[in-house]
Amino acid sequence: MLRIDVLTIFPALFDAFLETAFVGVARSQRAAEIRVHDLREWARDRHRSVDDTPYGGGPGMVMTPEPLGPAIESLAGPKGPDRAGHVVALSPQGRTLTQARLAELASGPPLLLVCGRYEGIDQRVLEIAVDEEISLGDFVLSGGELPAMVLIEGLVRLLPGVLGNPESLQTESFGGGDFLEGPQYTRPPVYRGLAVPEVLRSGHHAEIERWRRDQALARTCERRPDLLDGADREESPGSRSGGDADSGRVRPGGSRTTQDNRDAAD
Ligand SMILES: C[S@@+](CC[C@H](N)C(=O)[O-])C[C@H]1O[C@@H](n2cnc3c(N)ncnc32)[C@H](O)[C@@H]1O
Repeated sequence: MLRIDVLTIFPALFDAFLETAFVGVARSQRAAEIRVHDLREWARDRHRSVDDTPYGGGPGMVMTPEPLGPAIESLAGPKGPDRAGHVVALSPQGRTLTQARLAELASGPPLLLVCGRYEGIDQRVLEIAVDEEISLGDFVLSGGELPAMVLIEGLVRLLPGVLGNPESLQTESFGGGDFLEGPQYTRPPVYRGLAVPEVLRSGHHAEIERWRRDQALARTCERRPDLLDGADREESPGSRSGGDADSGRVRPGGSRTTQDNRDAAD
């Protein structure tokens, strides 16, 4: 079971999130246990303060070492080799979250997610009590709650038995290597003149598989060529070994578009 604790000053933000979709399913299946804690429960003063003005001046407020430090330590223990869990602070200054890091965290120790607010967290708490800072990307939100939810959702869908079809973990973007997934289609076969590619309706599984790999590679070349820079030349989309990635069939910009299919359907 994946155990996640969350520390926040806005616990109500998580109410619907924890009950809905795969996160709700994972909790009801007891694949995940997620507890949300109100940081103000650890506050000592009658205003239940958690922030103060920054030293050196400047705008905004900073989350104070107390009650945050003691709250983290009471939930996760003191930082060090004896700590059973892993404490993550959500921060725009952290390491950017990737699918690979999600996979590591999903099979790792229990997590405590610390949601910052205001101008962020006093540096000493980060040093004394936090193991890792994780960012969602190069932009700034007002708090760590949405990033924590993103992290939780990304973790929960990796848990065995949570997704209806675990095969989708392998074929979707970043699932079987550093590739994007190719285009997806469903009924109707022609929509506003745009036809579903013929091969997908052919029933020829090997051809469909090859087409999907080609499309995934072409789409990755077009949209995220940076992903291919570090890719193993032997890899192909959806597979960690072998495949047609180097066959030369697919070139950047060489994918067949829905527009092409419309032309083919006319
Ligand atoms: C307004 S931000 C603080 C930004 C900080 N003053 C800075 O310039 O780096 C407040 C909180 O939102 C969360 N946050 C904002 N952007 C984030 C991002 N890109 N990834 C993860 N957490 C983020 C963090 O928990 C952060 O402590």
